[in-house]
Amino acid sequence: MARITASVYTSHVPAIGAALDLGKTAEPYWQKVFSGYEPSKAWIEANRPDVIFLVFNDHATAFSLEMIPTFAIGTAAEYQPADEGWGPRPVPTVQGHPALAAHIAQSVIQEDFDLTIVNRMDVDHGLTVPLSLMFGQRDPKTEAWPCPVIPFAVNVVQYPVPSGRRCFQLGQAIRRAVESFDEPLNVQIWGTGGMSHQLQGPRAGLINRDWDNRFLDRLISEPGSLAQVPHIEYVREAGSEGIELVMWLIARGAMADVAGGPPPRPVHRFYHVPASNTAVGHLILENV
Ligand code: DHB
Ligand code: FE
Repeated sequence: MARITASVYTSHVPAIGAALDLGKTAEPYWQKVFSGYEPSKAWIEANRPDVIFLVFNDHATAFSLEMIPTFAIGTAAEYQPADEGWGPRPVPTVQGHPALAAHIAQSVIQEDFDLTIVNRMDVDHGLTVPLSLMFGQRDPKTEAWPCPVIPFAVNVVQYPVPSGRRCFQLGQAIRRAVESFDEPLNVQIWGTGGMSHQLQGPRAGLINRDWDNRFLDRLISEPGSLAQVPHIEYVREAGSEGIELVMWLIARGAMADVAGGPPPRPVHRFYHVPASNTAVGHLILENV
């Protein structure tokens, strides 16, 4: 059977992608960001997943105000990097895993989570920047991403957005779905976005280190009570785009302890301000 072996959490700032693509990683400003991912790159090299279930948000790239799925699972064979205004990022095409994605859709929808099924979707910085951070830069002409990815898009842009509680429950259903897939796959689940940031309005530039670090603490040790935090607290404390953090609760809900297993092992934790307008947070938890 397939197994969720670990969860990875990371911010997805588009300027990180630009820094990578334009060869700026050694600049002092960016070096401080990328240094936090060096242990992660070594870890994932030694703990290669067969598939990544990647929870992210689309930033009005694949979807628009014309159509806003709350939870959308990618069941396609591949996904192109999106053109976000400056041309698509020079990264490999993302290969999907249609068989596992279709199985998860079947299982999770039968458990009453009404997912949208997406067979065509370009993927923006929300998905490609986390891949670049964990795997480093890959030349699209000669290299592929190391494994297939199932993109799972969550609406955290246009209200009403799903609650942290619903995201946490959904993660639990995704875990049951993965564990009922009849192939011995090593699956990682990634939660992306956050941490505190606000991109517009009078509070633009808001960062809240205390709240972010408390979020990381609670994500590790008391995710069930963290999942009860209402939207208004995210927005008040972590800024309007801080709401992206509810997506981390999907990944956390899929870990073994939530289903009665042992607590996960924290492998790596990193926090840094700033990257563009955002506080960068990053965590890796392994199921033991
Ligand atoms: C920034 C962060 C985001 O999460 C995003 O989607 C766009 C921009 C930023 O910090 O600039
Ligand atoms: Fe974002």
